[in-house]
Amino acid sequence: MKLTLKIWRQKDANSKGKMMDYAIDGIDGDMSFLEMMDVLNENLNNKGEEPVEFDHDCREGICGSCSLQINGEPHGPDRLVTTCQLHMRKFNDGDTITIEPFRAKAFPVIKDLIVDRTAFDRIQQAGGYISVNTSGNTQDANSIPIDKHDADDAFYSAACIGCGACVAACKNASAMLFTSAKISQYALLPQGQVEAVDRVQNMVRQMDLEGFGNCTNTGACEIECPKGISLENIARMNREYLSASVKG
Ligand code: SF4
Ligand code: FES
Repeated sequence: MKLTLKIWRQKDANSKGKMMDYAIDGIDGDMSFLEMMDVLNENLNNKGEEPVEFDHDCREGICGSCSLQINGEPHGPDRLVTTCQLHMRKFNDGDTITIEPFRAKAFPVIKDLIVDRTAFDRIQQAGGYISVNTSGNTQDANSIPIDKHDADDAFYSAACIGCGACVAACKNASAMLFTSAKISQYALLPQGQVEAVDRVQNMVRQMDLEGFGNCTNTGACEIECPKGISLENIARMNREYLSASVKG
């Protein structure tokens, strides 16, 4: 496959960026999108040009590092996959592909296609944990019965990998799908009840402090989420917040 890539290049956080064109050949449909980027960088290296910086780690859809806006969509045209799991067979010979970093005020560009997503870490630090006693023997798994539906829903919420695609997909750059997933994974379980009031208040406060926008129910986040995190989490977070405001 021969392709034309239009890629955002930006020297550092303080420089102005611009789109630059690159021609690439010999791309196989079975390559992943990041392997295609590796080929591009090898070509650039061979020519003595600076390679394109992009984020990645596991390349297995687990870590949430890869974060490319491909033809205007976070993680590209496929559904329920991360950029590292996207295959080049989704594109055609002769295609022009635009590749940009995730765009949001709270995700400033560091270099080329890499953005700073530590805002998500600070939201997590504000309350995305439970306090448990880790000394002594492991607690018997059956000592706290949990409804199967609640356990399943908590598990689905916990599948969020913190990639930021929900923010990049949202016209308001809202982080409510991410934050609500991190709240829901505990809100549904008895172990999460001890800090429930503080958790939702602190995490929502931090989300607002970071400069993310508000949710206006467009649902773009759910469509682009590689882990299928449901909008129901946002409704649950709103209920938790209301309940915490009354209790608090
Ligand atoms: S909710 Fe989905 S899109 Fe948002 S950070 Fe989590 S996995 Fe990524
Ligand atoms: S590199 Fe880890 S999810 Fe893509």
